[in-house]
Amino acid sequence: MEWFNILKCIHVTSFAAWFGTVLTSIFLLKTFQPKLTGDRDAVADFPQLLRTYIQLETSVADKAFKLTVGSGLLLAWFYHGWDLWIGVKIGLVVLQVALTLGYIVKAIQPLAYPVSDREYARWYKLFAISLTMFALVLGITFFLL
Ligand code: HEM
Repeated sequence: MEWFNILKCIHVTSFAAWFGTVLTSIFLLKTFQPKLTGDRDAVADFPQLLRTYIQLETSVADKAFKLTVGSGLLLAWFYHGWDLWIGVKIGLVVLQVALTLGYIVKAIQPLAYPVSDREYARWYKLFAISLTMFALVLGITFFLL
């Protein structure tokens, strides 16, 4: 078996796992919305459930992200080479991390449930940022790399 294929398999599979955690979070946040934006009594222990989910999600997404970047850098180093579009791809991944972490600290962490639907929409903005960055990186990968 070729090392190139093994690395590419790790790269694409870990990207899929990372992407999967983002999609799953959208479904979960949508499911919890009526509880987390309802009146104070309806909230019950949903904020705690959300926290537990986010902890699990973050640990999987974190490992999958590191594997994606690690395998991508090895692919570039040993097989693909360092060209302009690899530079752009790396720049976009760095930007994605900076934007999502920055937005989480600024807009998501201060939320204290229950919140209004308007405040809850911040979660969807966070997913919009992530999905847009994924689309840009995939666009570069399949059409420019
Ligand atoms: C530092 C970050 C990254 C680096 C250095 C990197 C680098 C690379 C390289 C060198 C290849 C092989 C291209 C070839 O066939 O010659 C590749 C393939 C690929 N990358 Fe990345 N990548 C990174 C992040 C990502 C991310 C975040 C995603 C998803 C959003 C992604 C998705 C893919 C996919 C789907 C392929 C397979 C394309 C194909 O089969 O032709 N990569 N990457």
